[in-house]
Amino acid sequence: MTAPVTDHAVLSLLNVESAYGPIKAIRGVSLQVRRGEIATVLGSNGAGKTTILKTISGIIDPRKGSVEFKGENITAQDPAFIVQQGLMHVPEGREVFPLLSVRDNLLMGAYTRSDRDGVARDMELVFSYFPILKERAAQDAGLLSGGQQQMLAISRALMANPDLILLDEPSLGLSPKLTKEIFEIVVRINRERGTTLLLVEQNASMALNAADYGYVLENGRIVMEDTCARLREKEDIKEFYLGMKEAGVRADRRWKKKKTWR
Ligand SMILES: Nc1ncnc2c1ncn2[C@@H]1O[C@H](COP(=O)(O)OP(=O)(O)OP(=O)(O)O)[C@@H](O)[C@H]1O
Ligand SMILES: [Mg+2]
Repeated sequence: MTAPVTDHAVLSLLNVESAYGPIKAIRGVSLQVRRGEIATVLGSNGAGKTTILKTISGIIDPRKGSVEFKGENITAQDPAFIVQQGLMHVPEGREVFPLLSVRDNLLMGAYTRSDRDGVARDMELVFSYFPILKERAAQDAGLLSGGQQQMLAISRALMANPDLILLDEPSLGLSPKLTKEIFEIVVRINRERGTTLLLVEQNASMALNAADYGYVLENGRIVMEDTCARLREKEDIKEFYLGMKEAGVRADRRWKKKKTWR
């Protein structure tokens, strides 16, 4: 499948293949993320979502294919170099620095910046999105709850004032209510700041409501792509990924059904 190539794609993957020894985790993945949008890759456990993000951010070198960011080829570049280009990765399981304070974790996100006023402004901005982080600013990050650590991990990425944020399963381990809150803020960040995001998720319902454009990943291959509005209406998406056969089930009721993806 060939994805539409547009000249305002901030990120383009072309036929990317990555493996762990003999295990091919992703095969011939091509995708684009356009400036200002939220794009999503949906897939179940082991589909290859994390591998795609690790390949983009330089943690894994692909066997084949290329990764282009803002028109530059960044394939297999050093992760630190890729961060400097304005690409931040919020990993699966968040990985905050547990023994540093919340404030110092946020400052770590801004380490590539020299505009102290801008950093201070962005600190206030992330506190406005996540007021709990301001209350806990002096506390060790390791003492935050899982959801609060997710807020911190997203905020730390924002502190770099990046051109693109990669977000690996922000819903992991969170209650439906907290997941909904985090997704609402992710959408606000995108709408208010124009931050471009690539979000990978198993939680198809949340991701399809938040994102503009979506890709469906199965066994390391992209099997479908479309606007999220259209993907939400496709019968096989409803059936397999949203766990609802009949139309008309409201999003908040879906969560109460055991048939959902997770
Ligand atoms: N370090 C590794 N060594 C060997 N195989 C790995 C490694 N990491 C991932 N894999 C394999 O690569 C495939 C894709 O894994 P990946 O972590 O990208 O999936 P995922 O879509 O992120 O899954 P999940 O939703 O469970 O996080 C899986 O078959 C997995 O077992
Ligand atoms: Mg994963």
